[in-house]
Order: sequence, then structure tokens, then C-alpha cells
Amino acid sequence: MTLPDLNAQSALEHDARDPLAAFAGEFLHPQGADGRRLVYLCGHSLGLQTKSTREYIAQELRDWERLAVLGHDAAKRPWVGYHELAASGLAALAGADESEVIAMNSLTVNLHLMMVSFFRPQGARNRVLIEKSAFPSDRYAIVSQLEFHGLSPAEHLIEVAPRAGEDNLRTEDLVACLEREGSRLALVLLPGVQYLTGQALELGPLIAAARSTGASVGLDLAHAVGNVPLQLHDWDADFAVWCSYKYLNAGPGAIGGCFVHQRHARRSDLPRFAGWWGHSPSTRFEMGPDFAPIAGAPGWQISNPPVLAAAPLLASLEVFQRATIARLREKSVSLTGFLERLMDALLPDVVHIVTPREPAQRGCQLSLRLALTRSAAKRCHERLTAAGVICDWREPDILRVAPVPLFNSYHDVFTAAEALARAVAA
Ligand SMILES: Cc1ncc(COP(=O)(O)O)c(C=O)c1O
Repeated sequence: MTLPDLNAQSALEHDARDPLAAFAGEFLHPQGADGRRLVYLCGHSLGLQTKSTREYIAQELRDWERLAVLGHDAAKRPWVGYHELAASGLAALAGADESEVIAMNSLTVNLHLMMVSFFRPQGARNRVLIEKSAFPSDRYAIVSQLEFHGLSPAEHLIEVAPRAGEDNLRTEDLVACLEREGSRLALVLLPGVQYLTGQALELGPLIAAARSTGASVGLDLAHAVGNVPLQLHDWDADFAVWCSYKYLNAGPGAIGGCFVHQRHARRSDLPRFAGWWGHSPSTRFEMGPDFAPIAGAPGWQISNPPVLAAAPLLASLEVFQRATIARLREKSVSLTGFLERLMDALLPDVVHIVTPREPAQRGCQLSLRLALTRSAAKRCHERLTAAGVICDWREPDILRVAPVPLFNSYHDVFTAAEALARAVAA
């Protein structure tokens, strides 16, 4: 390699200047069979474990052992209010008030619960708008909700696709569709960061355009939360849902999250699927027959929180609070830009970067399409894995690579880029 700053030495120099570099040492990095640390660029799928996670879980095991039922009130982190301990960390990442966020359930479950409240088809206003490549689980959930309301997906599901020959959605095309369908839309569901392409949508203007149609607006932030800064309160979406096992590093199948805008906090006209944990804590244990919801997002809780499953989220949010999403974003733009320049320099004729080139329109992830046959491209992915570089393959032809600023270094990115060049040449 000849370009001045695209070599191993300069990657190490970048790392030496990185004010967040020490955070990588707070994570457990997986190792290959030979005991060597893997280069893990897959935080868009499953984040790494913080070293503190074990102690957070151990604390709950000790309190359970020591206190049993008394732990609800007497545990170090009392279980009765365990979900509240995630509120400030989640609010900072979501750009929301603490009363607007809640850690509960998992993403698709939360999407269903939100649709119970915010997908209320009435008369001709009975359609849902999504993007054509929406994550399958979202589509399954929406189709099942349409059918639940006696509506046919063929007629009532509007899907906006990128233009022919393009990979990414254009804001103007989404806005044109919103204007065209406006009075017929009951719900608009948008991704924060598209899972396949890594495109970060222009959420501010899109949410404003969607809300001006009179539809409810929801967001799937699976690939956005902990990845890009969010301003959910100011953007004014009605609701958002996310999972915590990706950029939030809360472990496989971790407890998910949900945002409900403050303007809905006290609405008694909204139907919801209720449960006792959404009931006001001041009267919850009077065991009365009538549901009196907590004002705000916690009022959508159904069951008491899974403490052992929520402990890793608290451990991770504590790290985020020290690192801050603003500083992480600054590093992320630089780190992903480094990967982009390496791809352009090393593999200009083989790698097509599907993700937008403009940093504002992407997060950590670059989605790469290789100018090879599908089987040759898949072999490259296998060679990368064998070389100790972990990224993932998504059908039909995308290699997703995500340098995560909390635990990846410039040297990781350099190593991965060189390994890809070798995998292509092999
Ligand atoms: C964009 C997106 N939406 C929804 C989901 C489904 O999440 P869950 O299994 O937590 O419901 C995923 C899972 O990876 C996802 O990436």
C-alpha cells in the first residue's frame, strides 16, 4: 500500500491519538481456536460483553441467594424498580425525556404493543407505509396486524423502494409517497438505520412529513440506537422500538426498548394491552381491579422486568454514559471513513460500497457488495472468518462490516481491510 496514512503504522498512530481507545479494554473480545483475539466487526448484529456485565449479574444472583423475595425492595438495585435504572442511559441515547423511554420485552413484541395503541385504522385511513426492504420481522408484524383488523396486506401495505439501479432510499421519494397516500395512511414505520444497506434515514424531515399526513409515526431503531445520536423527543415521532443486543451490547436476546412521545403520556383514549407493571407503583400492590397506568412509556409495561436479563443492559449503559454518544459518534465517523478509504484504495474494482458515502447518511456499518459471483463472494466471507475477522453475510449479496467506536480500533479496521484484500486475491 502506498497512500500515506493507509498503513499499519498510521492506524496505530490514529489509535494512540484516540481519546476513547481505552474503552476497548472494558470489553471481552472473542478469541479464535488458536487463542488469538478475533477482529470483531459485527457489533451491528451482536455487541460485545462489557467486563462489568458479569458483576452486574452476579450482584443479582447474590441478592437473590441472600434475600430471596426481600430483594424486591432490599437488593442493592431493588428489583421492584429495576427498569427505572435504565431510564437515564436510554434517554440520553434516544434524545428523550426519561419518562418517554422504557426497557421492556423485545423489539417485535414492543412493535406489536405500539401498534395496538398507534395503528388505529379508521374508514379510508387504513394503510401502513414502510420501506420495501424492511426487516422481515417488522413486515410479518405489520401484515399480521393488518389481517387482525380485517385488512388485506395487498391493498393496505404500501412499500417504498429505492429507484431502479439504486440501493438507498431517497428522502424525496418517501416524501412524494407520503404526499400521494397522505389521507389514507394510518401508520408510517421507518427504520433509523436500514439493516441491510446501513443507510441512516433523514429522520427529522421524514417524521415531520409523515406526521403532517395525520398518520401515526413509528421507528425501528434496532440499528440506530447506540450507533447514531437520536433526537426522538424533538423529532416528534409517536413511538420507537429497539433491541439492545446490537450496539447496546446487552447480550443475546437482551431486553428491548421503547419510546412513547410525551404528548401521549396521559392519554386515556388510547387502547393498549395492559398489565400490572404498567400500573402506577403507588397503588400497584393494593391489587385493585382497575388499571391506572403510569404516565409515559413505563405505562406500556405488562410484566415485571426480567432482572437477570436486564443486568447486562445496565452494565452497558454505564459505559455509554461515560463515553457519551456525541464522542462515540465523532470517532465512528472517522473510523468508518478509514474503512471506506481503505476499501477504495485496496479494492477499487471489487468492492462497491452500498452504504451512502455521506457520513450523515450512515452509522458505523458499511455494506459491501463484491464484484464477484455470489459463491465467490460468500467464499470471501468464509476466508475472512477463517482469518479471524468477524463480519456477516446478508442475503442476497451483502457483506456487512461495522467498526464500533466503543471497542474497535483503527488497527482492527486496517487488519480487516487487508484480510479482505487477501480473501479476494486467494
Ligand atoms: C432492523 C431489525 N428489526 C427487527 C429485528 C427483530 O428483533 P427482535 O428479534 O428483537 O424482535 C431485528 C433483529 O435483528 C432487526 O435487525
